Amino acid sequence: MKIAGGKLVIASHNAGKVREIGALLSPFAIQAVSAGELGISEPEETGTTFVENAELKARHSMEASNLPALADDSGLVIPALGGDPGVYSARWAGAGKDFSVAFSRIERELAAKNISGKVAAYFACVLSLCLPDGKIHSFEGRVDGTITFPPSGGAGFGYDPIFTPDGYDVTFAGMDANIKNSISHRAHAFEQFVSFLEKNT
Ligand code: IMP
Repeated sequence: MKIAGGKLVIASHNAGKVREIGALLSPFAIQAVSAGELGISEPEETGTTFVENAELKARHSMEASNLPALADDSGLVIPALGGDPGVYSARWAGAGKDFSVAFSRIERELAAKNISGKVAAYFACVLSLCLPDGKIHSFEGRVDGTITFPPSGGAGFGYDPIFTPDGYDVTFAGMDANIKNSISHRAHAFEQFVSFLEKNT
């Protein structure tokens, strides 16, 4: 597979994400360049699954650049709420990206269904690699846990304050970032991606 020694477009406009992925790719002599740097627009996320959204973002960047492209999509899934917020995780926080709005909506919707006690949830992350010949390889990671109210912990982002991973008694926002980053959905998806690169480059 023709990536080694070449460029890989990271289909993200988030500089932090691109730097992090770049560091991860350094053992493979792959140079990460961001879609933003190349002037590639962000497509609308019209998919109804993480895989669909990750694949459409990866394909969009590959077609715009003619280079292999990597995209990710992630979110929080609450099976008792029919999988919500799921692919709409970012959108539930509204235009102001205020996650307290999303937390209240989760609390309200669980109460409306008379659901109390331990509520199972998981974070999912799909990474999709689209090659210039159009072939796509997708890798999925997941971390299981429970929804915890009231929100707690000052670290992390997004839904971290209301998610306690199985085997721990603090939320993602209450734990050391290194621990979160070693057990997260993103870490598991990346492990699979890296093992694919080890076998295929
Ligand atoms: P994406 O950027 O389209 O993948 O949207 C991901 C959204 O899912 C983010 O805005 C967060 O709301 C949520 N999310 C994904 N991963 C995490 C995480 O590790 N902690 C907290 N929230 C997350």
